[in-house]
Amino acid sequence: MTLQAIRYERGSLEILDQLLLPDTSQYIPIVSTEDGWQAIKKMQVRGAPAIAIVGCLSLAVELEEKKFDSVRDLQAFVEERLNYLVTARPTAVNMADAAARFISFTKTLAAQDSLSQQDLSLKLIEEFESMLEKDICTNKKIGQYGGEDIVARSTTSKVCILTHCNTGSLATAGYGTALGVIRYLHEKSKLDQVFCTETRPYNQGSRLTAYELVYEKMNATLICDSMAAILMKQKNISAVVVGADRVVANGDTANKVGTYQLAIVAKHHKVPFYVACPLTTYDGTKETGEEIVIEERPATEMTTVKGVQVAAEGIQCWNPAFDVTPASLITGGIITEYGVFPPGKLRQGVEQYL
Ligand code: MRU
Repeated sequence: MTLQAIRYERGSLEILDQLLLPDTSQYIPIVSTEDGWQAIKKMQVRGAPAIAIVGCLSLAVELEEKKFDSVRDLQAFVEERLNYLVTARPTAVNMADAAARFISFTKTLAAQDSLSQQDLSLKLIEEFESMLEKDICTNKKIGQYGGEDIVARSTTSKVCILTHCNTGSLATAGYGTALGVIRYLHEKSKLDQVFCTETRPYNQGSRLTAYELVYEKMNATLICDSMAAILMKQKNISAVVVGADRVVANGDTANKVGTYQLAIVAKHHKVPFYVACPLTTYDGTKETGEEIVIEERPATEMTTVKGVQVAAEGIQCWNPAFDVTPASLITGGIITEYGVFPPGKLRQGVEQYL
């Protein structure tokens, strides 16, 4: 049993408040899309796949309660709410991908004269619910493809992995993406050690990934973000594996700020650098990473820790939440549920599945 960030049964949604971890495990109820939007914005739930799942399930619980006069009213409501949920965080594409898919799904169903608003509502709720199981299934495939590729390329029988941010059960419906690869290696007794970065300023690594790794009893070690270069010089790191918030057509990848510098250091030390993500993170509408909007977050994430000021009062801050790693630095490949692709071959490789 892995940690559960999202608890759902029809009509009821609760999320583990990730602002309180690791000290306190507290689930909070989400009863509407407004609650969902707020929880995503405040990062009570975070991680690209989890954002989309919680966003859509918040609409599922709202639809369970709400009555509509006509199919058209329901369709307009669903479209407006999905587009609203997309605005909570701009960089991760999964919520935008889900919104586009479900808006089109609703439109197709609404065009069928025989369908009542109750039928349409139920079909939508069922589709949203299916995201939970699909995500875990996808992550397990990512874990296996990535794990096998890393082992095949390694010169040692057990591997040492460095990861960044949190891509585990807390960032997905379960199992995880990059952390799913690590989990797979652990399950197959192929993992020697995993290193995780703190991931400043929000500490997803030290608060969340470290929590998951300890919970799973893996041989895990925390480093500060600034220790990555010495780690790759002195320890025998087999691969760096990170998640993604948006991968564009040429393979450029937006992920948690600090990913880009890890990829540069990995290339210098000839350590394969992998990105692990589901195809819902692929954005074929953008050609290069230049087109990705990078979210900037409040200065207080940098200047305070648990509400205590740790930076000099009056200092200016710049807090981009993500950076873009150029495809040329993704030397290991992009691990998806359909296999591992060199970034330049991703578009061609996944087109048939989109
Ligand atoms: O700001 P966050 O915590 O939402 O950022 C999360 C990341 O950057 C993850 O690496 C990414 O969303 C993939 S999660 C499977």
